[in-house]
Amino acid sequence: MSIISLVAGSQGSQDSQGSLEGASRALKADIARGFGNARSTYESASRLQRFMGNTMLQKLYTRDAVQAYSEVLDLGCGTGWFTRKLAAMGQVGAVAGVDLSRGMVQEARENSSQGIDWIVGDAEHLPLPDASYDLIFSNLMIQWCEDPRSVFRECRRILRPGGRLMVSSLLDGTLKELKDAWGAADPEHEHVNRFETETALHAKVYAELPRATIETRTIRLPYTSPMMLAGELRHLGAGFRGAERRKAMTAPGRMRNMCGYYPKEPDGTIVASYEAVWIYWQKR
Ligand SMILES: C[S@@+](CC[C@H](N)C(=O)[O-])C[C@H]1O[C@@H](n2cnc3c(N)ncnc32)[C@H](O)[C@@H]1O
Repeated sequence: MSIISLVAGSQGSQDSQGSLEGASRALKADIARGFGNARSTYESASRLQRFMGNTMLQKLYTRDAVQAYSEVLDLGCGTGWFTRKLAAMGQVGAVAGVDLSRGMVQEARENSSQGIDWIVGDAEHLPLPDASYDLIFSNLMIQWCEDPRSVFRECRRILRPGGRLMVSSLLDGTLKELKDAWGAADPEHEHVNRFETETALHAKVYAELPRATIETRTIRLPYTSPMMLAGELRHLGAGFRGAERRKAMTAPGRMRNMCGYYPKEPDGTIVASYEAVWIYWQKR
């Protein structure tokens, strides 16, 4: 269970990535570092991630999907929660987990007692051979990628004929209550990550994955307060990663101001909306 680093230029660095230049490279390093720093708190905060990944796992048990998978890839595996689930499924051969964040991959390796291959790599530029996997599972990773289309293209390339792809992500409208509250409290600065619109994502999916099935659903999670929501995002390593990030954005006064604008339920609790999307495709 060694960790293979397949990210060009990652030698000796904590969390870095390949041949991309400038801002894009810095943003990826920031994303990898953010998740790496959250490696020990991530699983305690990942209720949305569990729900979305379990939705895909259940599809593997539907009648037309039950089959033997000799090579399985968990793309953007994080701490390996679902990689371990995939490895524990019956009729599965070799399983590998890939993640941009070396810290996450280390956590996944430490959490795992099975013979899983762990790879530090970028889903947009996978240095994996053509036609080498029967199943690719990717839970809540592509929304962190600059160009989801390149991820779909890579998945199509590394899947064998007949291989299956299952991907989940989040769409525009996700965390809209938080975005609006920050918009009122601190209108000059962005505080919430941007998500693709459904129309834009559909175009990218169908350009690379003809006849893919796309399912969407709004998920509304309850929180005791906006502070609890902010804490969950921090524990996930999923904080705002925009280039214009304000260094002091969590200053207590500013945070309190945002909380004042966040819509409350009659009992004082709050809700955060997530626009969930699942993409299913089988290579001919
Ligand atoms: C929200 S976590 C999901 C982790 C895991 N799939 C789960 O369901 O618990 C997103 C993961 O995607 C990884 N990630 C982000 N951009 C990536 C990229 N370009 N290539 C590979 N992994 C990436 C992050 O490091 C992080 O571990």
